[in-house]
Amino acid sequence: MGYAHRVILRKGTPETADASTTAPDLRPRLKKLRNKVRKQEEQLATLRGSIANLRGTVDKQARELALLRAASLDIFPDIPVSADVRDLVAAVREEGLTFLEEMHLLALVSCVLEMEQAGREGMVIEAGTARGGSAIVMAAAKAAGRPMYVYDVFDTIPPPTDADSDDAQERYRTIAEGRAMARGGETYYGYRDNLLGEVADSFARHGVAVEGHNVSLVQGLFEDTINIDGPVALAHVDGDWYASTMTCLERIWPHLVPGGRIMIDDYHMWSGCRTAVDEFVATHSDVQLEMRAKVHLVRS
Ligand SMILES: C[S@@+](CC[C@H](N)C(=O)[O-])C[C@H]1O[C@@H](n2cnc3c(N)ncnc32)[C@H](O)[C@@H]1O
Repeated sequence: MGYAHRVILRKGTPETADASTTAPDLRPRLKKLRNKVRKQEEQLATLRGSIANLRGTVDKQARELALLRAASLDIFPDIPVSADVRDLVAAVREEGLTFLEEMHLLALVSCVLEMEQAGREGMVIEAGTARGGSAIVMAAAKAAGRPMYVYDVFDTIPPPTDADSDDAQERYRTIAEGRAMARGGETYYGYRDNLLGEVADSFARHGVAVEGHNVSLVQGLFEDTINIDGPVALAHVDGDWYASTMTCLERIWPHLVPGGRIMIDDYHMWSGCRTAVDEFVATHSDVQLEMRAKVHLVRS
């Protein structure tokens, strides 16, 4: 319409003239142009899709790289991890016995090996075990005779408290309502009838039977069971919520030997855990905080 109007004015044709009779037939050109526009629009959409995919891939790679970089900081580079232990790490993950990433499990192993190499005295602790994966790899890396205590309710996780935020409350609602899922469609650990027995079997199946490796599986709430009466060299605390984490810190810390460390799994995952650690660190001057892939509290 606008184009025909301009043609009429340029040629000085009376304003009342019919454009279709005076203007050249532009329809074929217009059709061509429209086709060209449509094609270019399609190409642009395809390009945009490819860019979005690429961006997704780049973001994923960047996240993985960040994780690897951070996790590699947890590994004592001069202490080799044997192929057997690496295979074990892969096996417990394969079986769905742990929530931890491979690099985080290797980092735990590395800390156990460093403790052995340094000859630090004391027991090893894991508080928060679920199906046992992280405890199994720690047990395999320690000297067989060194005592290890593994604390867990071996049942459904206790509820968070008011000190935990919405993230924990929401997660607990999912668990309590029976909606929690395990990887690979298996039954979620908190709904299993004999979790304690299963964990003991898993230790044995993976070559670290609790009897032969001085491991004690202690069932009950941390509040009731963690009563330590000897030195602690290393602890892995993986209890998700504020009260669980705080109980572990308060009960374990006084027994930690110099150079001993408590590795906290959930600092970056659950708000209550983060609050507990922050509060604990703020009130203890002998804590050396190491912000690694996971947070470590080292006794100075
Ligand atoms: C995230 S899972 C542990 C995961 C495990 N470390 C792994 O390798 O995947 C947390 C565990 O802590 C236990 N837990 C949390 N708070 C507890 C408490 N106050 N007393 C006893 N067990 C507790 C839960 O029942 C659950 O088994």
